[in-house]
Amino acid sequence: MKPVKVGLLGLGTVGTGVVRIVEGHREDLIGQVGSPIEIARIAVRQLDKPRAVAIESAKLTDDPWEVVRDPEIDVVVEVMGGVEPTKAYILEALKLGKHVVTANKDLMALCGSEILSTAREHGCDVMYEASVAGGIPIIRTLIEGFSSDRIDRIMGIVNGTTNYILTKMSQEGASYEEVLKEAQQLGYAEADPTSDVEGLDAARKMTILATIGFRMNVELSDVEVQGISKVTKEDIACAKKLGYELKLVGIADRQDDRISVSVQPTMVKRDHPLASVSGVFNAVFVRGEAVGETMFYGAGAGELPTATSVVADLVAVAKNLKLGVNGKQSAAVFKEKILKSEAE
Ligand code: NAP
Ligand code: HSE
Repeated sequence: MKPVKVGLLGLGTVGTGVVRIVEGHREDLIGQVGSPIEIARIAVRQLDKPRAVAIESAKLTDDPWEVVRDPEIDVVVEVMGGVEPTKAYILEALKLGKHVVTANKDLMALCGSEILSTAREHGCDVMYEASVAGGIPIIRTLIEGFSSDRIDRIMGIVNGTTNYILTKMSQEGASYEEVLKEAQQLGYAEADPTSDVEGLDAARKMTILATIGFRMNVELSDVEVQGISKVTKEDIACAKKLGYELKLVGIADRQDDRISVSVQPTMVKRDHPLASVSGVFNAVFVRGEAVGETMFYGAGAGELPTATSVVADLVAVAKNLKLGVNGKQSAAVFKEKILKSEAE
């Protein structure tokens, strides 16, 4: 059985989870794919950093180009984050005919169409399930599960760090600063947590969800964004007194070709299902013309939940490799949108 060889870019929170799942579920994965999945090379920034998983030192490099250009590698799994130079690595991998799995919402929200069109040109798969809502398979659900429907609303708590902060402030009266530190230690927050607390991370995720859910060219600049850095304990106490929970909520609405997308701190009535989404959990509410209202709930960040989505993508790519059908999915046709704010 010829293994499917993987080049991993990054061995931090998510990369470590990927190694644990690929090794821990080895036999299950062979059963599904028909071949072992082998993590053959790993790029990190610091070669001498202690690692939470045992890795043969010969597999490690501090030069991602070595991984991307290694002719033995079939699939590049990108879990290092950032837009540059990461985009260059991914584009080069695709041009060399390698398939790509990424957890990178910054990159997919900003450069998704370029990456997907390069993949199509070179007959490669690009999968990015972990880029939104960690362990919840929401991207697959929007693309495949609702392909038959017309979605008109996507609403969600899609940032685990801010939900963790708001929950702890509400339940324990903790201060914003101390809970943010905890979220960073637990590996939920981005390297620079500004993007979490200022709502940018959620805006990037809403851009991805609205693009694939509405099948329209939604851009990050279309999203109105307000974060939680100015939310005080007093705001939360006041909301509670009135029967509400304060949550950072992303809302994307579509009416024909008119859309609006926003992310902002929102008072959610205590009996609404989103009010009980606590800690690092995420929830995504999707309304379709035919299906009606549906909601998806689960861990939105963290090592193993996020790695679950990354490895599921890897399994899908590996199965396509076995069948020889990579890059053969029909390309989604995205329409041009009209922003509701411009139309009014
Ligand atoms: P992380 O813990 O900071 O890990 C980043 C890894 O990439 C580290 O191993 C680092 O090496 C390596 N790296 C960074 N820059 C590099 C460079 N220029 N060359 C070589 N290696 C480099 O990040 P993470 O939390 O795992 O997140 C990874 C990606 O997943 C990001 O796109 C993030 O947005 C996304 N994501 C994260 C979560 C989560 O819960 N953490 C959830 C969903 C999606 P060193 O180890 O040597 O420093
Ligand atoms: N920083 C992100 C969050 C990680 O807190 O949701 C998961 O995308």
